[in-house]
Amino acid sequence: MVKHSGLVIACLLMLLGCSNPAQTSLYQRLGAEQGINAIVDGLLYQIEHDERIVHHFADSDIGRFRAMLAEQLCDLTGGPCQYSGSTMQESHTGFNITLADYDALVEGLIKVMQRQQISLADQNALLALLAPMYKDISYR
Ligand code: HEM
Repeated sequence: MVKHSGLVIACLLMLLGCSNPAQTSLYQRLGAEQGINAIVDGLLYQIEHDERIVHHFADSDIGRFRAMLAEQLCDLTGGPCQYSGSTMQESHTGFNITLADYDALVEGLIKVMQRQQISLADQNALLALLAPMYKDISYR
């Protein structure tokens, strides 16, 4: 029994290592490239079906928006990407985006993350990374 204790401890440490959020990047926990792409596609669907905000995207290049958002989320969450798009201020100026618009988009994002069974802690971690962008996105 005693001679197995080292092995048991090693296994426990491995298990802890795997489930400890501090050991993996948020990017990994969201499902890496595939997970981020699924979040972005889910969000695009939500926006398309949300009459409160869909009008903002009427003249946008959705293919570019999709690619840039995926790259930005990858970069922000610690993935192997470098965001190459416009700044949040540049890309949102002139759209008169309000707090209600921002909340509507975040509401859609939360629905998508819940559907993808992302843990509450990881949902909050992503929202916390996005929250400071509000000041650059919103209409002043
Ligand atoms: C967490 C919040 C948000 C993030 C991270 C975000 C991110 C982005 C990114 C990465 C782009 C592409 C930039 C580029 O083309 O280089 C973009 C564009 C755009 N965003 Fe957002 N966005 C956010 C909130 C919003 C909200 C609330 C709205 C309106 C309801 C909005 C409307 C748009 C529109 C219309 C474009 C396309 C602009 C164009 O056609 O050039 N965004 N956003």
